[in-house]
Amino acid sequence: MYSDRVMDHFTNPRNVGEIPDANGVGEVGNARCGDIMKMWIKVENNVITDIKFKTFGCGAAIATSSMITEMAKGKTLEEAEQITNQQVAEALEGLPPVKMHCSNLAADALTAAIADYKKRAAGTSA
Ligand code: FES
Repeated sequence: MYSDRVMDHFTNPRNVGEIPDANGVGEVGNARCGDIMKMWIKVENNVITDIKFKTFGCGAAIATSSMITEMAKGKTLEEAEQITNQQVAEALEGLPPVKMHCSNLAADALTAAIADYKKRAAGTSA
């Protein structure tokens, strides 16, 4: 059912944990299954220098989160915002159609973390 890539990221997920001094945090829930995802980002000079996640999600949610953290690290905020759940699924060599909604969790959490960072940055410069 799952590609080798998905199994690799599921059994050995990258960037699991929290970033204590993160400057952006996103938490989202999946309306379809009720699973929860939280993502922390550290942004320096508009670049995501560190990113970590924790989830109460399924295996596909873990694999997509792991993959999106690898894709987002080192990218500018604008580049990271462009990452879609479709691209994450492609990087994982595909997800079963019934599991595509799980990849939304990872993409939405990243978007929420970036939005949180921007909100904080706007607050401190005002
Ligand atoms: Fe909930 Fe996959 S079933 S994230």
